[in-house]
Amino acid sequence: MHYWCMITLLIASATAFTDNLNQFLLTFDLPEADLSSVDEKWIEQPLDHFDSKEKRTLKMRYFENVELWKPKAPIFVFLGGEGKQDPRWIYSAYDFFLTVKMAKEAHGALFATEHRYYGKSLPDIPNNNAIEYFKFLSSHQALEDVASFIKMLKSNSKYKSSKVVVVGGSYSGNLAAWMRELYPELVDAAISSSAPVLAKKDFKEYLDTVRYTFGKYGTDGCLAKMEKNFKDDEDLLKTPEGREELKKKYHICPENDLTVLENQQFFFQWIRYSGFMVSSQYGLPNDIKAQCEVKTHIPRKIKPIWRYNCYNVDFKSYDWTRVKLAAWYHQYCTEFGYLMTTSSEKQPFVHWSPLEFNLKFCKGFIKGDIEKTMDEGIAKTNKRYGGLKPNVTKVVFTHGDMDPWHTLGVLQDLGPDAPVIMTNGTAHCGVLGYKKGEPEEMKKVRKHVQELILKWISQ
Ligand SMILES: *[C@@H]1O[C@H](CO)[C@@H](O)[C@H](O)[C@H]1NC(C)=O
Ligand SMILES: *[C@@H]1O[C@H](CO)[C@@H](O)[C@H](O)[C@H]1NC(C)=O
Repeated sequence: MHYWCMITLLIASATAFTDNLNQFLLTFDLPEADLSSVDEKWIEQPLDHFDSKEKRTLKMRYFENVELWKPKAPIFVFLGGEGKQDPRWIYSAYDFFLTVKMAKEAHGALFATEHRYYGKSLPDIPNNNAIEYFKFLSSHQALEDVASFIKMLKSNSKYKSSKVVVVGGSYSGNLAAWMRELYPELVDAAISSSAPVLAKKDFKEYLDTVRYTFGKYGTDGCLAKMEKNFKDDEDLLKTPEGREELKKKYHICPENDLTVLENQQFFFQWIRYSGFMVSSQYGLPNDIKAQCEVKTHIPRKIKPIWRYNCYNVDFKSYDWTRVKLAAWYHQYCTEFGYLMTTSSEKQPFVHWSPLEFNLKFCKGFIKGDIEKTMDEGIAKTNKRYGGLKPNVTKVVFTHGDMDPWHTLGVLQDLGPDAPVIMTNGTAHCGVLGYKKGEPEEMKKVRKHVQELILKWISQ
């Protein structure tokens, strides 16, 4: 059954903003899996790794697949990011996934960890106040979780001499690099795919890259057409008849007031921009060409704003601390920024997603001055992990030029044992799995990455 074969590009989900690995997984046409070889397991973690007086714990979920393992062979840990972990990443038959392929050749043991506060790895504490509830959610705590997980594995005599490779993509690609940086004694090598290691408040480069992608890979005149469509919609906002037309065209709930600025911004950001963002982030050049030919891009059922038969763009009716993506909102509000604004003059999307609007999503996650708290969090993140220059060896950084996230990534080799590989015509996390239609170059890159990792762990 191929119900995973969804055309993600048409589900222009606003989760362009989040849950990158699961979004990416949906872009594969996965054959049916018998997941009985992958066990679901749990490890108890301190709720707060940095306060020994805090006695509460958190149950972290992980998946284990040891059917390929032979004694002394390496351990591969596929790190979870801002979403639930999925056992299929380490399913033996899916050797189009790079991690599985490497484990197959090296007879490795496969694990996939789930990030705290996502999926089923939730704290058992009351959730009536987001600031209190999310207090123990941070990349720093999550890295400690992975460290204690690896220590637990290594305490098993059968893994004592096994080398450890961590793999991650997007935010978890950050974690992969940072694991190697902070715990070189526990982690021997890492693959960091499409990782935005630099925290940045106004991530205006995101939409610049979307422009680049549609300009370079789109059909002739695509950008000009996009620009015109956006200007036309902007004009429609100016008159009562125009607003009614927009509502019909994009299935906006009739009762929504499109004269309210933040509703207008919300409409543009979620309904008009997200489809182009998703294509640039996950598509292949042919998907970009196809999207250029779509007349009116009507996204389908974006969560959480789809209400049975219309999009609710009444911004004030939402409490972002209560939505499924809340944990990631907390993280970007307090640690990373990553606000995909329309601040850049170069992008074709008019200017309906300014910084001030993006900051409004952080209300409820931060007490007091949101922007100041975010600035401080970002400075701390970049200081802690080293921004674009993490102090690492034996980490390979991969990027795709279509992927807007690459602009926050390491783009220059950090040394002979910390190379960067950029592949044109590929998007977010492309190296992690083979996809039909990808450029030939990608296969060579995957092979190269695998050789590097196997060389590093044989030293
Ligand atoms: C970088 O890491 C190495 C090895 O872990 C360490 O010896 C060195 O002091 C670090 N350099 C900086 C600038 O932190
Ligand atoms: C990749 O694309 C960039 C920007 O379009 C270009 O400058 C570069 O030469 C390309 N690299 C390869 C190997 O084609």
